[in-house]
Amino acid sequence: MLCSAKKILAAADKGGYAVGAFNVNNLEILQAVIETAVEERSPVIIQTSEGAIEYAGMDYLIAMMRVAAASPVPVAIHLDHGKDLKVIKRAIDSGYTSVMFDGSLLPYKENVAKTKQVIAWAKKRSVSVEAEIGAIKGVEDLVSVEEKQAFFTDPRQAADFAKATGCDSLAISIGTAHGAFKSKVAPELDIERLQKIDALVKVPLVLHGASGISPELVAKTKEHCSELEDCSRLAGAVGIPDSEIRRAVANGIRKINIDSDIRIAFTAGLREAIMLNHKAIDPRTLLAPSKKMIKEVARHKMELFGSKGRAKKP
Ligand code: G3H
Ligand code: 13P
Ligand code: ZN
Repeated sequence: MLCSAKKILAAADKGGYAVGAFNVNNLEILQAVIETAVEERSPVIIQTSEGAIEYAGMDYLIAMMRVAAASPVPVAIHLDHGKDLKVIKRAIDSGYTSVMFDGSLLPYKENVAKTKQVIAWAKKRSVSVEAEIGAIKGVEDLVSVEEKQAFFTDPRQAADFAKATGCDSLAISIGTAHGAFKSKVAPELDIERLQKIDALVKVPLVLHGASGISPELVAKTKEHCSELEDCSRLAGAVGIPDSEIRRAVANGIRKINIDSDIRIAFTAGLREAIMLNHKAIDPRTLLAPSKKMIKEVARHKMELFGSKGRAKKP
């Protein structure tokens, strides 16, 4: 059931759970996410970044995602981190049911103005719009904790921004970071700040950079490395612990973006396939373990976020 993200997130808000927004770059990842959502009876958001569009082409991606959305659970097709207004307009006109305008690094006034422009286009086609205030920076970008916190979302500014733009959901910065190397130690989220934002902002809140990078998942990428070399190259990778995600959901986060955990699962599966099937040359054989491992990741997230079992029976 193809839905807008607005509808999916309104139900999540009412039910007090969050919905996973999973980045998809190819057929296998998309199938893994959708099959799991159907098996777990979970609403789901499938999203493509501008990088995914550059890689696979918007026409291919939207065609595949429309097929996926014809599943018996609510599915939104979302553009993740839209920065290029031309790509955003094309996504709105091509059948995406939700787009993000990421103006988080722009001056405040420009972020408001461009977000409003995107909303004007989106409204005409009943497409939802996610906006962002406060920047989500990783440990790679910044040296000290204080420097990092300077980019956290200011609750008052978030309320003013949501009101001024009329966005349908709002991505905020409370201590997460994109990628596999989020922090030197397991990050603690600024839950007090989240509570203040949640009290002031009426629209559903979005958490980016939320992958767990669990040691178990990282270990799977190393299973077939030689003892001499860490072929997974994930030494020192740290993600957001499940306990922090639970606290975030309990305090108002309603959409959670996951990409890195999918990438790691894909890599672990592919490495396993290549190492264990030396003679295989069939891509279907080689990609099967990746799909299986991504399904395990998606299943765990749907349970963790509380979206499992929330889709109505058809
Ligand atoms: O938040 C960004 C996502 O992880 C997408 O990454 O631009 O490399 O596709 P990408
Ligand atoms: P991760 O890198 O933590 O998976 O975050 C993904 C994300 O925020 C996509 O928008
Ligand atoms: Zn993101």
